[in-house]
This record gives sequence, C-alpha cells and structure tokens, in this order.
Amino acid sequence: MEANKFPGPLTVEDVRKDIPLTSKYIYADNGATTPVPIPVVDAIKGYFVDYCSNVERGAYAIAARASEEWDQAREDVAHLLMKCKTDEMIFTRNLTECSGIVAHSLQEPILDMDANGNFGAGDPLVDWKPGDRILISDMEHHSNIMPWIRLAHRVSAKVEAVESSEIGLLTPEAFAEKMDKNVRFAAFQHVSNALGTIHPVKDIIKVMKEVNPDLLVYVDGSQGPGHMPVDVRDINADFYGFSGHKGCLGPQGSGGLFIKEEVMSKTDPLLLGGGTMMDVTYSNYKLRTDSISKRFAAGTPSIAIDIGLGRAAVYSAKQIGLERIEEREKMLSNLLVEQLDGVEGLEVYGPRADEHRGGVVTFNVEGWNSMDVALLLEEEHNILTRSGTHCCIPLMRKMGVHDKYGGNVRASFHFFNTEEEVKTIADALKEMV
Ligand SMILES: Cc1ncc(COP(=O)(O)O)c(C=O)c1O
Repeated sequence: MEANKFPGPLTVEDVRKDIPLTSKYIYADNGATTPVPIPVVDAIKGYFVDYCSNVERGAYAIAARASEEWDQAREDVAHLLMKCKTDEMIFTRNLTECSGIVAHSLQEPILDMDANGNFGAGDPLVDWKPGDRILISDMEHHSNIMPWIRLAHRVSAKVEAVESSEIGLLTPEAFAEKMDKNVRFAAFQHVSNALGTIHPVKDIIKVMKEVNPDLLVYVDGSQGPGHMPVDVRDINADFYGFSGHKGCLGPQGSGGLFIKEEVMSKTDPLLLGGGTMMDVTYSNYKLRTDSISKRFAAGTPSIAIDIGLGRAAVYSAKQIGLERIEEREKMLSNLLVEQLDGVEGLEVYGPRADEHRGGVVTFNVEGWNSMDVALLLEEEHNILTRSGTHCCIPLMRKMGVHDKYGGNVRASFHFFNTEEEVKTIADALKEMV
C-alpha cells in the first residue's frame, strides 16, 4: 500500500508533470522559491476540503485527524529532511523567522515555573560578558546578519565577519583563526544562495567547538534540506533553520527550525499563548513538558501549510530521493559553468565545476545591469532567473558587483531542470555577449 501511496523513484519527467509551470517556462529560480508539485497542493487542499479544523483542541473526529496529520508532517520533516527527533523540530514560516526565534533565545533567559512551583528566570543560554564576540561569515543573507547586529547591540557584544575564500568557500581554517573563548555564538550558512558553494559546516563547527565547547552555533540551511541529505546532529549544530519553500518543494510560508534537545529545554519561546503551556494563573505559567517543541507553537498554526511541508518532505526525500536531487543539481550547475567558462564578456562567480558547488550559478554580462539580463532572458527565451543582490548586499559589495552590475544574475536548479534547459540558458547568454 505504502509503495502505491507514494510512488517512486520519480523520474525527471514525472516531476515535470507534477509541476505544470515547467511546461511554460525554464524555471531557474529555485534559490528564491520552488514551484510546488501537485501532490503537495493536493495535501493542502485535502486538509481544507476533508478535515479543516484546529489541531490539539477539538474532541471530534476531524479535529483528531487534523492533529494526527499535523504531527505526522512534523515527524516527516524532522526525520527526512534533518534527521533529528520530532521533538527537536519547530515549524516556522521561513528561515527569517528561525533567525528571529534564535536571536530572542540568546537575549532572554527562559521564564517558567520550576519543579518546586517557583516562577522565574532560568539560566541564560549565553551569559554575555563585556568583550564577547559573535562570528558570522562575509557571505551571509541579510536574514542571517541583521538579527545578530541587533542582538549584539542589546547584549553589548561585537559581530565579526569571517572571510570566505576566493571561490566563496567558508573554511575551518578561517574560522579557527578568529576563534577564542570570547566567541559565544556563531551563525553561518550551509549553502550560499549567491555563489552556490556548499560549505564544510561540520568541520567548521568542530574546530570552533574545540576552542570553546560551550559555543552555540546556528546554521542557516535555507538552501540546504531538500537539495541534499542533511544530518543536523552529525553536523553538530545547536540550531539549524531552513526554508520549506526552497529545496524541499514545500509551500511558501513554510520552514523549520531544529534546536538540539538539550538546548531547547532551556530556550525561551518567542511567542506565548494557546498551545504552549500546561497551566496558567493571573501571575505565572508552567510551560508544556509533554512536548518541549510545542512550547514554540503558540496559537493556531499554519496547519495546511505545515501539512503541505510534510508532504513535500515525503515527495522530495522518499519519492525522488535527496541523493538523486543533489547529484542532478550538481550535474546541471557544473554543465552551465562548463558552457560559460571562458566566454569573453561573461563573468562567472564561485567555484569552477567541482564538488563544492550546489545547484546555483551566478554570472554577469559585461556592460549590462544584472536586472536587464534577467529581463531579457525572460522576454526572449522564457527563462526565469533572479537578479540583483540576493539579499546579500555586503557580499555583493565585497565582490565588486554591487555598483557595477547591481548584483548578479542567478540561475538556480532543481531536479526537474534539464540539460536542454541549461544549454538554452548558455546559448542565450552567449548570444547576448
Ligand atoms: C542563504 C539564505 N538565507 C536566508 C534566506 C531567507 O529565507 P526566507 O526568505 O525563507 O526567510 C534565504 C532566501 O533566499 C537564503 O538563500
């Protein structure tokens, strides 16, 4: 039965049929968001049509079903996309919300009632002291820079950006060089949305924690889960956030945050209210203990969207296969790099064709604003790409493309893209120069 319910392994053609947009466009903007496959749309529609009701509240049958499906979705996302325990995973709206939840937790100690009935603040996750430092990298998305600048101001710490290598790779050596015991928190990306590099995050975290075992690390996995297998426990991140609407083909407005079990029980939830507590009086409350992660699900969740994300996790991890997605995206991006490399009038950024590159290729056409290139690619060839700064203004400035080109143009692939599409993109660019 299971095999029929979720058929696989799906071919490229199967997935293209499930994503009707692929018959109208060369959709190469998966770094911004991915089109949602029909089975995911059906799961969302199924909730609204068949069992639309609130979760964890009603006693009637369809309310029980909604709760079951929502719990199952969380389990699927946790197990399939991050390889963590279900109770280590919180649904969020996107990666940006993950950063906000983590930032709050680093600023405020948990407030709760202890076993003796005393209500008050627990130990802070980080006991900030003057001179404390926060490390990020010079490649981060604004959603993984701005929250830390604000946090640093509030706790009187200092944010420093570790330099990436010439090809846009973050290295353990560069982080090790900046490390000392005053570094209390670090936040960096897993995969670059601007250059396509896949960073050795496990090795980076290892060298950093050798210097400060108490260091807390947040990985921005916005471009990670769904595009490739990810094991957050093996990476040894304390927090790992991702956007559900990118790699794993989930709906917009979905995402997930892993918080290591031992850290989560000491983490203050950003929002409080219905669903987060065991008991409340007019002067205190006791947070849930049956499911620590549900302390973070305040109010009515985005039930349909979360269920859609769960279905997308099954679709990408079980029906396509994360290794197959990773392999194919690398093949397609390497193919484009090969075709564009050395073409006069074109600048191609990031690593050359090698194992450090995921499904992203960025480039510029000399003398053209990146926006105009993207407009022309659509107008003349039905090719959808992203142009501009990719929400990485500091990196674009460092690369010298911010003022010169207004950023760069990005083609970002998924399993459903084809070799022919890559060739069409390459030919269009050659024609342009
Ligand atoms: C590396 C990276 N971090 C953060 C984000 C923000 O993700 P979201 O828009 O889902 O919050 C993105 C989105 O493009 C990204 O690529």
